[in-house]
Amino acid sequence: MALAATFAKTSRLFSRWYGRLFSRNPYPLYRFLRRRYPVLRTPVGFWIVTRYADAYNILRDRRTSTFDLSALDSFPPDDGLRSMQVLLRPAIQFRFPPDHTRLRRVMAGAFSPASLEAMRPRIQAIADRLLDAAQARGSMDAVRDFAFPLPIEVLRALMAVPERDRGKLAEWVRSLGGSIDPAASANDPGALVRESIGTAKEYFCALAAERRKNPGEDLISLLVEGQARGEVASDDEVACNAIFTLVAGHETTMNMLANGTLAMLQNPAQADRLRADPALIDSSVDEILRFESPAQITFRTAIERIEVGGRTVPAGDHLIVIMGAANRDPDRFPDPDKFDIARPDNNHLAFAGGIHRCIGEPLAKLEGQIAFETLLRRMPKLRLAGGGYEWRRTMVLRGLTRLPVAF
Ligand code: HEM
Repeated sequence: MALAATFAKTSRLFSRWYGRLFSRNPYPLYRFLRRRYPVLRTPVGFWIVTRYADAYNILRDRRTSTFDLSALDSFPPDDGLRSMQVLLRPAIQFRFPPDHTRLRRVMAGAFSPASLEAMRPRIQAIADRLLDAAQARGSMDAVRDFAFPLPIEVLRALMAVPERDRGKLAEWVRSLGGSIDPAASANDPGALVRESIGTAKEYFCALAAERRKNPGEDLISLLVEGQARGEVASDDEVACNAIFTLVAGHETTMNMLANGTLAMLQNPAQADRLRADPALIDSSVDEILRFESPAQITFRTAIERIEVGGRTVPAGDHLIVIMGAANRDPDRFPDPDKFDIARPDNNHLAFAGGIHRCIGEPLAKLEGQIAFETLLRRMPKLRLAGGGYEWRRTMVLRGLTRLPVAF
């Protein structure tokens, strides 16, 4: 118990300072850890892993499981992350087989090649509409006016949420999105998080009831059909997985779009290269995901004793896998701090790996491909505007609060 309380306190303090000190540029710290302490045991039984080979193996190792959420039980009751537990416990990412396997089977239909092809013209229309509005206005904050709304509209399509409820989705991603990051949630009381989870659950339970009467091809319909077959346990499981997908699919995609726009603006020769050769769009999106990974960190728990980089991690200990550090490991990526949109053999870990590897990966990549192709084509003079950009003070997530651009 004493250890648990120490863990809560240390983790709050650490996350707060981490956000302040390293969120602008975590890469020198990652380099130091990779070189000097590639497998670092913290006093509270968390192991920090930064090298590509170790991260790759841990993510795929069946002797590790998804993060055991009971580690958060000792957090103060007003902590945002602890308040998220009620949403996260039934969610796919924190389930173990066979529960994880059945949920993954049910949800996979929403990300099939056929579903994605149906999404393509919708994503194109969303990107064009947002850029039409920016061009009509004559100004753009690439976060507020492009990276934030684009994935909301895509998720709205994925779940067939009516247009009139777009504002609700925006409100929930704002209040719940940052809470999955300890550096952000440690600073915010969890009251707003709990309230948002309550209203979002009510909303998605009602939407599920409506889809039972009028089923479609969307993710909510797939979940209620799964429930009818006995593959989804309850209304709560339907609602929590819908909300989790909303948050997981928004935060990360928003950050990919903002981080990628900044990377292109800071590397204008690479942006021109992509304009001249649009066939490079797939490798450009992969390079953006490697270079400024939207999810820097994921967690695992050892279910058996395992060896990591020559050290022994006992069963029950937790692993902090820093994908953002692995993706800059010079032993895996030559010249890793260079942004190279044609980088060959770019098997980055931005979507993690193993059974929990991001289910939304093909959709996210499609969003990135359409968004960047459209942005660079429609705005050939895109450049940073005055006012400056700002990194979010986060640790798990990597993204920007604002990115004013001129075009
Ligand atoms: C650039 C965008 C994205 C990035 C970088 C990203 C990253 C990740 C990562 C790292 C994980 C795995 C965590 C782990 O293994 O511990 C994950 C899981 C997940 N992601 Fe994504 N994601 C993105 C977009 C999306 C989208 C668009 C959706 C859905 C619309 C989505 C839904 C999910 C879900 C449901 C899981 C849990 C999968 C499971 O546990 O089986 N993600 N994502």
